[in-house]
Amino acid sequence: MTQIISILNHKGGTAKTTTTLNLGKALSMLNTRVLLIDLDAQANLSQSLGIDDEPETIAESFSQKRKTLPIKQISETFHLVPASLDLSAIEPGLYANINSYFLLKSLLDQIKEQYEFILIDCPPSLGIFTQNALIASDSVLITVQAQFLSLRGLDTVYNLITSVREKLNDRIGIIGLLLTQTNNTRISKGIVESLRNSFNEKVFNTTIRQNVAIAEASAHRKDIFSYNPESYGAIDYMNLAKEILL
Ligand SMILES: Nc1ncnc2c1ncn2[C@@H]1O[C@H](COP(=O)(O)OP(=O)(O)OP(=O)(O)O)[C@@H](O)[C@H]1O
Ligand SMILES: [Mg+2]
Repeated sequence: MTQIISILNHKGGTAKTTTTLNLGKALSMLNTRVLLIDLDAQANLSQSLGIDDEPETIAESFSQKRKTLPIKQISETFHLVPASLDLSAIEPGLYANINSYFLLKSLLDQIKEQYEFILIDCPPSLGIFTQNALIASDSVLITVQAQFLSLRGLDTVYNLITSVREKLNDRIGIIGLLLTQTNNTRISKGIVESLRNSFNEKVFNTTIRQNVAIAEASAHRKDIFSYNPESYGAIDYMNLAKEILL
């Protein structure tokens, strides 16, 4: 069975892209077939895999210049659908057509059987691309930065998921909230504690510690396992993958 998971938070910089990349890589290292979807016009996920300036990206699929998703093989069991800035140019035109909301779902329906996990890196907004991701997904992983004010706006994410569940996709659930960039400060510990108190079972046991190797890895266009397999980042993302596979 394929699990399609949207990595979501409309707040910027909560480690959505980092999580898509490194959770995906960890799952592929644990012998599952993984497809990553870059759904952000910033194309950070594609860039951090060294894949940019691609002639064919998901933008061509959304503008219906092509009828399939362009898939790049990073390794045998680790694949990517790249994005490009063209996504932002086509976005306004998509809102006019109700069918646009279901494009990603129908594109994934064609190929999902080939994978155990499909992870979708959402942009930092709740616009049409994020709504496509939610309609296509079985579940949502919400990344929460362990920082002051980061719990604000979570109700907005929940409301969107609830409305998608009621109207468009009754399969969708929340696989969990993932605390990212945690550290030993009082603020960070306070956020971890209040999130666990308010949401308990929906919060992953694994938290992702703040770790400079993670930032360095993306600058080197590598996943954390290729860059430094002994780093906290590698350990934490591998633990997250194991927690998901349990
Ligand atoms: N655990 C971590 N330790 C240190 N730096 C991190 C960690 N996780 C992410 N970062 C860094 O934080 C920045 C933001 O991460 P990332 O791009 O994954 O967030 P995002 O949610 O995808 O952002 P956007 O909303 O812009 O798409 C990046 O520079 C990344 O390298
Ligand atoms: Mg991102």
